[in-house]
Amino acid sequence: MASARSNLYVLSVLLLAAVCDAHWGWWAPAPAAPVAPPKPVDAILSEDFYSYTCPQATDVVKKVVLSILKKNRNLAGGFLRLHFHDCWVNGCDGSLLLNSTADNQAERDGFTNFLIRGIPEIDEIKEALEKVCPNTVSCADILALAARDATAGVGGPSWPVYLGRRDSRVSRALDADTNLPFPSLNFTELVQNFAPKGFGAREMIVLSGSHTIGRTHCNGIGPNLYNYTGIDDLTNPALDSKFARVLKKKCPKGNRTNIVDMDRTKNLFDREYFKGVLNHKGVFISDLALIENTFGLRVVTELVARSSSFFREFADAMVKMGNLSPLTGAEGEIRKHCQFVN
Ligand code: HEM
Ligand SMILES: *[C@@H]1O[C@H](CO)[C@@H](O)[C@H](O)[C@H]1NC(C)=O
Ligand SMILES: *[C@@H]1O[C@H](CO)[C@@H](O)[C@H](O)[C@H]1NC(C)=O
Ligand SMILES: *[C@@H]1O[C@H](CO)[C@@H](O)[C@H](O)[C@H]1NC(C)=O
Ligand SMILES: *[C@@H]1O[C@H](CO)[C@@H](O)[C@H](O)[C@H]1NC(C)=O
Repeated sequence: MASARSNLYVLSVLLLAAVCDAHWGWWAPAPAAPVAPPKPVDAILSEDFYSYTCPQATDVVKKVVLSILKKNRNLAGGFLRLHFHDCWVNGCDGSLLLNSTADNQAERDGFTNFLIRGIPEIDEIKEALEKVCPNTVSCADILALAARDATAGVGGPSWPVYLGRRDSRVSRALDADTNLPFPSLNFTELVQNFAPKGFGAREMIVLSGSHTIGRTHCNGIGPNLYNYTGIDDLTNPALDSKFARVLKKKCPKGNRTNIVDMDRTKNLFDREYFKGVLNHKGVFISDLALIENTFGLRVVTELVARSSSFFREFADAMVKMGNLSPLTGAEGEIRKHCQFVN
């Protein structure tokens, strides 16, 4: 049994190595995500979960998040993305935060989490919480609250955060890279990535609107500029040619680590991202793919309007994302330190 498991592990590592081998790496198509039907959780998670055990919890998270944003507003993008990347991989269970160990490569070291940021800042929030109510608030709940407070803190919508998630003890890089979407995906592939989690095409487009804040590394932009559909030196024909020249300057061929803004107003949650997409100025293939067909074009055109329901739909979709298969009751644990199991 143990040897079967370790064989499986070796296989996973080899597979992952194969995924990361391609120069830009994004090229390995993400394997179909395993289907885990979402549990009905509305009855389990609740807004007032900590109202007896840690009534200060939500205020403490908000206070620390806002003080971090005061120093660096751009980090709102980091917080929002952390929650997404946590929830998309075996549910919202804090697994993204666990550090790799000698014999396990954790989610955060997967290809799709390349240079992910915000984890030390989540530690800051956890430390503040441990001071007022030790061993009480889960890291998964902190991620959910921080995503909401950061989004609202930079001009975006707010939403109710239902609490009571517990933290997992397992985190595997391969799970991240089989579940999270690669920026080289086209419309069909994006829809296929979101469907197993219970999200439709419109929700996929709405949630992509989070690319209105934060930043990216050149790593994810590479295939859009230099390797469209895996063909060397092919630039995405859907990319505005002037914008392509600007991006190429910022991201010389082969450079994975330079930093590029997600849209024209990187520190403001607004509709500017969708405007960029409509103007064929999208940093990723997956951004431009949103208007690749008439359905997507119609939805993006609708969302861009000032009177649109973008904020309300985004808030609804975030609540839904936050409900993805949480650990509850006696499952998992409340971690003392978010990067380590107890
Ligand atoms: C639709 C498929 C998606 C793809 C292919 C995708 C891909 C990416 C990539 C490659 C980056 C750049 C990361 C870096 O280089 O540091 C990024 C950034 C980001 N993504 Fe997505 N993403 C998707 C959907 C989402 C969703 C659903 C959310 C949230 C609900 C989200 C939130 C963000 C945010 C906020 C950033 C900026 C991160 C930062 O500032 O550190 N993305 N995304
Ligand atoms: C997690 O591991 C990385 C190296 O893999 C290390 O740099 C970092 O300090 C570790 N985090 C903590 C909190 O020890
Ligand atoms: C999207 O990608 C898939 C597989 O990678 C491909 O078969 C399909 O033709 C692509 N769709 C479009 C519209 O390009
Ligand atoms: C482009 O993608 C192909 C197919 O995945 C890969 O073999 C090749 O190394 C990539 N080229 C560059 C310059 O990244
Ligand atoms: C990317 O470019 C930056 C600045 O131009 C440079 O410091 C860095 O070493 C480059 N990285 C790679 C992998 O080429």
